Amino acid sequence: MALYSDKVMDHFTNPRNVGKIDDADGVGEVGNARCGDIMKIYLKVDDNGIITDVKFNTFGCASAIASSSMATCLIKGKPVSEALELTNKAVVEALEGLPAVKVHCSVLAEEAIKAAVKDYYDRNGIEYDPEQFKEKHIHED
Ligand code: FES
Repeated sequence: MALYSDKVMDHFTNPRNVGKIDDADGVGEVGNARCGDIMKIYLKVDDNGIITDVKFNTFGCASAIASSSMATCLIKGKPVSEALELTNKAVVEALEGLPAVKVHCSVLAEEAIKAAVKDYYDRNGIEYDPEQFKEKHIHED
């Protein structure tokens, strides 16, 4: 079996939503200390709390790029509250799997989106439960 699924290869070689939003309503940047990869997510949110646009910049491995691309596709057009519920597991499933040692790359996508949503909440004085933004610890085999 190939190491990477067709979906991963597709989103790595042809990533969706790459770039930057200059007047973003929320920006999240996260990094993984172990591999040194960095991911930045920009959100544009309308008055109804719907994510009308999302862009990412990822300085990282193929799985991190594919995960960011897929994650942005999954949250575009959705309410912010729904984006907050996006798990790395859902990203991995949408990508039709990632090798176990690469699961942490998908966690980066989940965390970058959460950081961007938190920034959006902070900028707009929207109250939230800090528990929702707790760091996630994963185990890799
Ligand atoms: Fe660091 Fe993939 S190896 S995010």
